[in-house]
Amino acid sequence: MVKSIDWNQVWRDEYNKNLACRFNRDWVSEWTQKENAKSFLKCSEENPERIRNVIEKLQVTPASSVLDIGSGPGTLAVPLAGVAGHVTAVEPSAGMLEVMEEYARKNEVSNIDILQKRWEDVDVKEDLGRKYDVVTACYSLCLPDIHSAIESMCQASSDSCHIFWFAGVTGWERAMNDLWPLLHEKSYCCDPKADVLYNVLYSMGIYPDVQSYVINHSRKYDTIDSAVHDLKSQYCADSEEKQDTLRNYLLRQKTADWDGIEIGGAVNHVHFSWKVSPSDGGLK
Ligand SMILES: C[S@@+](CC[C@H](N)C(=O)[O-])C[C@H]1O[C@@H](n2cnc3c(N)ncnc32)[C@H](O)[C@@H]1O
Repeated sequence: MVKSIDWNQVWRDEYNKNLACRFNRDWVSEWTQKENAKSFLKCSEENPERIRNVIEKLQVTPASSVLDIGSGPGTLAVPLAGVAGHVTAVEPSAGMLEVMEEYARKNEVSNIDILQKRWEDVDVKEDLGRKYDVVTACYSLCLPDIHSAIESMCQASSDSCHIFWFAGVTGWERAMNDLWPLLHEKSYCCDPKADVLYNVLYSMGIYPDVQSYVINHSRKYDTIDSAVHDLKSQYCADSEEKQDTLRNYLLRQKTADWDGIEIGGAVNHVHFSWKVSPSDGGLK
């Protein structure tokens, strides 16, 4: 007899292994520091193709209401607010929130409200109290129970849901695979990817449109010291000795045509989208 696979458990196991190998530092605590959040926004601004691509795929109009889950520093929420009627941003990290508020002010955008919570802690009925035409989570579903997170997305949507995620090993994970044995004397375990996500959706009776595409994503630093300073927390390089290991690794990646340091490369992105039916929602 063929045993059926519990894909939500596969997601949970891979998520937990990834968390454990990063010393239980989750991706929300990574952005608590405002400095890290600013650096994320700067990197997004240096790679505008990713933002343009996501915004095009959401097909937002001035009549649309949008729920942006894990909005970070407003990389999408702020430009989306320029097009949509209203945007609600859900973001748990204090540093990201502060930067998003500044970014919205700078762009003179006032049709955004912000809910400081993890998605898994949001009660759609109590905390949002409404439905949105477009519900999107872009590289932000860093949580163990993906099944419940998707159910809540369907509950919050009156029309479409979108998840953007990764396929295969990303450039920064290649570096983590190389560096973990050197820094931490163990292997790096990547987080669950689009294959697991597709199977979770399928097991829920959701058969999404799936689009895969490649975008180059790179981060440039003028000096090796600024690269080490920015990356040390992502690579859990807490001591001077570990920062030296990181520095030497980055120097080995240096290309001849740039005086500073450039990291990154091609990243495989996947866009899952589906329409909700009235029976998906729980809001009455
Ligand atoms: C990689 S950033 C992406 C930000 C933005 N969506 C974008 O595409 O530019 C991921 C964001 O998701 C947030 N995040 C991570 N786990 C989350 C969770 N369980 N619930 C809500 N937000 C989460 C993080 O705090 C971070 O701001």
